[in-house]
Amino acid sequence: MAEIVIVDSVETAGEVAADAVQRLVAERVDAVLGLATGSTPVPLYRALERRVAAGGLDLSKLRGFALDEYVGLPEGHEQSYASVIRREVVEPLRLDASSVHVPDGRPQQIETAGARYEAQLQEAGGIDLQILGLGTDGHIGFNEPGSSFASLTRVKTLTEQTRRDNARFFASADEVPLHCITQGVGTILRARHLLLLAFGEGKADALAAAVEGPLTASVPGSAIQLHARVTVVVDEAAASRLARADYYRYAWANKPAWQGV
Ligand code: F6R
Repeated sequence: MAEIVIVDSVETAGEVAADAVQRLVAERVDAVLGLATGSTPVPLYRALERRVAAGGLDLSKLRGFALDEYVGLPEGHEQSYASVIRREVVEPLRLDASSVHVPDGRPQQIETAGARYEAQLQEAGGIDLQILGLGTDGHIGFNEPGSSFASLTRVKTLTEQTRRDNARFFASADEVPLHCITQGVGTILRARHLLLLAFGEGKADALAAAVEGPLTASVPGSAIQLHARVTVVVDEAAASRLARADYYRYAWANKPAWQGV
């Protein structure tokens, strides 16, 4: 079972998630971190930024792989995930830009982009810790409902719901690209540790379905139930529809200190 950590604020969630990253880097300075974009991981990235700025954490050797990218945005578009990762992660956390990879969303070579990304991941030795957000429709990465649990990095069509959810980053929903390239559910399951974050009432149904619902490709997030090492860090609002919330709180409160996150 996944370990479910219910915290009182997104800031606390960011600190708990940052502890997991810091612990990983303490084990291996050049560990491979799987990077999510969107709003959810921002508290984690800000917590790491504070630790780096304070001199307590050096991430300069850390390697990174983004989960996904839009297809067809003009190069340098401020909402391309390559730009977002540079702005939100590489620069503030002082990572080495040459060690951070984002799937290639350029239409000219899109047919081979998935296989090229998988090869890069393999060459790097795979992802040690994969950060995940959760779509309101249950997606992880941009694996929309119906995505195979065995899928690898490939092009997907975004649902109307995801395009509406992400319209806040663009001038209008019409400007959100139709297509994306995303690590597959199978790619995500190969990571050695999954760290799923979800905040707010809007994620409550998707979270309950992913964590406690049946295993189904209709809820790609439910694939985390197949993974032996999953940490889920959520706020009270996102946790509000979990049937076993009291048990998760009890287990976290009584967790042996040596285990860490
Ligand atoms: C982003 C990603 C998506 C988001 C999800 C939630 O790289 O892969 O799965 O994590 O759409 O988005 P936010 O965090 O903006 O609610």
